[in-house]
Amino acid sequence: MICPLFHLKLLFFAWVWFYDDLVKKILVFGSAGKVGSTLVPYLKEKGYEVIAATRQDCDLCKQNDLVDYIVSQKPDVIINCAAISGIESCLDDPVTCHYVNVMAPQTMAQVSQKEGIKLIHLSTDYVLDGRRPGLKTEQDRIRPINTYGESKAEAEWRVMDECPSSIIARVSWVFGSLGKPGFAEAIWNKLLKGELISAVGDKDSIPTWLPDLVEWLSEMIELPSCSGIYQLCNSGEPLTWSQYAQLVIDSAYSHGAIEKKPTIEVQKLDEMSHFRDARPRYTAMSCQKLANLLDKPIRSYEEAIDLAIQSYVARLKDAR
Ligand SMILES: NC(=O)c1ccc[n+]([C@@H]2O[C@H](COP(=O)([O-])OP(=O)(O)OC[C@H]3O[C@@H](n4cnc5c(N)ncnc54)[C@H](OP(=O)(O)O)[C@@H]3O)[C@@H](O)[C@H]2O)c1
Repeated sequence: MICPLFHLKLLFFAWVWFYDDLVKKILVFGSAGKVGSTLVPYLKEKGYEVIAATRQDCDLCKQNDLVDYIVSQKPDVIINCAAISGIESCLDDPVTCHYVNVMAPQTMAQVSQKEGIKLIHLSTDYVLDGRRPGLKTEQDRIRPINTYGESKAEAEWRVMDECPSSIIARVSWVFGSLGKPGFAEAIWNKLLKGELISAVGDKDSIPTWLPDLVEWLSEMIELPSCSGIYQLCNSGEPLTWSQYAQLVIDSAYSHGAIEKKPTIEVQKLDEMSHFRDARPRYTAMSCQKLANLLDKPIRSYEEAIDLAIQSYVARLKDAR
């Protein structure tokens, strides 16, 4: 007669095996960056097995190491948040920019196609030329005007060519982390220090709030038939940097963080002498395709900015 304990053990191992097979293993490149450092803890909290890859784990300039690293980790999903994201960094070192922003995503796509891995590659509104005002859809022609944008556009083409089931997730003006400040956090910090606020008034885009972005990405992981280009940003009409700064100031004032609203010194894009490479002027993206995919309305950037500032005010009060 077989011991009942044996049945129990068998059941336990079957459950472990089944559970292990259900939990997706997600490899995140660029895990120490602005997006990666919010995405990794969120995915872990959701119950995924996450491999948080940094430059120390795998240098994306070394293509052979990259292939070996991915194959050895056996992920179900790769989310590539790694990039040379500084516009002037790309201009100053186009070779490294090409390795990290173009060749590494292409290699990820080749391995993903061969190994049956779902690849989500992050891209940018800077693939657009920004010549025409208004919201751009995923169908709009891409025609980048700087080294960074060219590298990201080239990566979009190569990734889709090598692995058509991939997702290109374009984001813009990412904010929502005090540890890795975006524009909203930069204005918030200046407000607290009482510094002069200046911002460009003739260039637009749409902000993307990190807590929303990581939620959308995790929802996309669970949609196996989802592929192609998606614009992942909050909803609303095109916003200039000076209008964006005004929303941050209004929110900080309404939540009692400042007693008086400072006046913004509005600048022109052409006056920004430290911008050594060109900036596309009108790159605001529509998130309608994302809303249709997830079958829910996308939060407005006004609400997202207000929630972010509200949380910073609460943190400030806790620290006092
Ligand atoms: N932030 C935005 O507003 C924004 C807007 C539009 C598009 N995007 C896109 O969104 C994605 C994520 O952006 P992000 O703001 O999170 O960028 P980020 O903060 O600059 O982070 C990029 C990450 O890439 C890593 N990396 C760079 N070179 C590497 C290499 N040779 N090997 C391994 N890792 C390397 C960096 O590692 P280290 O930490 O070691 O330097 C860093 O952790 C990028 O594709 C970016 O183009 C961002």
